[in-house]
Amino acid sequence: MKPSRGNIGIDRISMYTPAYYLDVRELAEARGVDPDKYTIGIGQDEQAVIPSSQDAVTMGAAAAADLLAYIDPERLGLVILGTESGVDASKAGALYIHELLGLPHTVRVMEIKEACYGGTAGLLTARDYVAAHPGAQALVIASDVARYGLATGGEVTQGGGAVAMLVSENPRILALSADSTVYSESIQDFWRPVYTDEAQARGKYSTEQYLEFFARVWGASGLSAADCAAVLFHLPYTKMGAKALARLAELDAVSDELRARFQSSIAFSRRVGNLYTASLYLGLLSLLCSSPAFEGQLALFSYGSGAVGELFTGRLVEGYEKFLPDVNALLDARRKVSVGEYENIFRDAVPYGPEDYATNPDYYCGPFVLTGVVGMERQYARREE
Ligand code: COA
Repeated sequence: MKPSRGNIGIDRISMYTPAYYLDVRELAEARGVDPDKYTIGIGQDEQAVIPSSQDAVTMGAAAAADLLAYIDPERLGLVILGTESGVDASKAGALYIHELLGLPHTVRVMEIKEACYGGTAGLLTARDYVAAHPGAQALVIASDVARYGLATGGEVTQGGGAVAMLVSENPRILALSADSTVYSESIQDFWRPVYTDEAQARGKYSTEQYLEFFARVWGASGLSAADCAAVLFHLPYTKMGAKALARLAELDAVSDELRARFQSSIAFSRRVGNLYTASLYLGLLSLLCSSPAFEGQLALFSYGSGAVGELFTGRLVEGYEKFLPDVNALLDARRKVSVGEYENIFRDAVPYGPEDYATNPDYYCGPFVLTGVVGMERQYARREE
């Protein structure tokens, strides 16, 4: 890989997930599964439960709202939402977020879709935009609801939430490298037809392809694990990351320090589950918030089913630890719901049909909510917490 361009990257970062979670041990009991399968075999402890008043727009807006104080309306040129649980097949969800946050009108606003890779596509596009427009800021939001269906194989890997990143020159957190290695090929490992909100997955095939794509881009990168202070992986469930680390260990020597940092990088995902586009960046937050401050180069592997795999690097900026959000406080403040309550919340979904619908105010949380759908138009509102 080419050396770091040095001075463009993640200046600020924030995260949001709704106020409810499920203990996957209780889910295992309800499904007649050994809890060890979920906690050890899949590597999850808790799962975010997403009420129908929360979607890719409201969660993305909530994450990005924490960055408003750092956005300069004169410098902001680009707003990107990466999501694979978008709310409209035509209009960019980023435009709803743009409205909810009162962002300036003189910006490009768009949504990027390529499964879980969409957040990375947004981040690297933002990096290139800032390189082409010195002095500019770009806002990148990765936001998703990971939903597979009650009592399905994928159920234990559900979750949801959003990460927002402000990209600029002279970043305070992570300076991104200029180059990366990428591999794209059309495969059918995971997809979601436009008439359903539940993903279709060939789970085991998807896992195999993820590892193949990782090995390919790692091999092409010329990177050595010894050059990395940490290697971060897309985390659809944390065991997937552990499998990727094991594959890396077949390709290269993996130090105890890298293994310890990997454990730090999965702590938040164990509590939230899959955030699709935001999962890699929740891993970044988990690593930075759960480890004593350190320095060096991070390697990040992004995978989006369908599929695109991209490996890129960034260098931690000295003092980054002063600019991290308190994710633990957000997670600790959530309320645990029972399996029965989770199932009721799950079933109360925005219909995939033209009928009007109102969300349940009992589960309103966060600064923004979807109040319902009227005449096939989604109604969003800001709420006072
Ligand atoms: N104690 C400990 N581990 C156990 C166990 C127990 N009692 N019972 C099973 N396990 C382990 C299995 O050995 C297996 O480990 P391995 O993957 O290291 O071989 C793991 O738990 C999963 O069990 P398995 O029966 O193989 O898988 P599954 O049929 O339940 O499917 C997924 C697992 C992840 C494929 C499924 O949840 C899924 O489809 N998820 C969504 C798709 C997805 O996220 N894909 C990745 C896209 S990037």
